Amino acid sequence: MPEKKVSDSASHISRVMMPTDANIAGNVFGGTILKMVDEVSGLVALRHCNSNVVTASIEHMDFLYPVHVGDLLSLDAKLTYVGNSSMEVFVSVTAENLMTGERQHAGDSIVTLVSLDRDGHPKPAPRLILTTDEERRLYAEGEKRRNLRIERAKERKKTG
Ligand SMILES: CC(C)(COP(=O)(O)OP(=O)(O)OC[C@H]1O[C@@H](n2cnc3c(N)ncnc32)[C@H](O)[C@@H]1OP(=O)(O)O)[C@@H](O)C(=O)NCCC(=O)NCCS
Repeated sequence: MPEKKVSDSASHISRVMMPTDANIAGNVFGGTILKMVDEVSGLVALRHCNSNVVTASIEHMDFLYPVHVGDLLSLDAKLTYVGNSSMEVFVSVTAENLMTGERQHAGDSIVTLVSLDRDGHPKPAPRLILTTDEERRLYAEGEKRRNLRIERAKERKKTG
């Protein structure tokens, strides 16, 4: 199976927020942002493994700044860690006020997706080629999160 670089699948999506994306005061729903996080992380995983993928978990979603109707919401996403069939994606969310040009870091998220074969079973994903110290640091952190998650799942099984 070919190995791939982080830059091979890094992706960006953006969309202007409309009234249907927000509450009556014009604040964009968290769910609107989460849906875009799911979309862009799915795109990264799909481009990495070129097979069907599903979202297995969202490690966190921090909403750091309010987003309003009329803002341009931009999401940048890249792989941080690849296990056997699982892929961890970091997503950064930026809101741009199109009237002033002001940009704010509006949130970030870590999503894990799993590569599936045609029968819907987990399938190995290409190994990740790490080219920078930053990529190696993020990979090590992703590996720690995966091991912690597996430990927690074992504990939950024991305690029922
Ligand atoms: C995710 C899913 C495919 C895992 O299937 P499974 O039978 O548990 O498979 P495995 O135990 O072999 O795990 C496969 C990989 O998923 C990872 N994984 C399983 N559950 C996970 C979770 N909750 N969070 C993150 N990764 C998870 C495993 O660590 C493993 O990674 P690895 O191959 O890199 O070691 C399965 O639980 C599923 O289909 N869930 C529903 C997904 C979905 O429909 N998402 C859309 C929103 S509902």
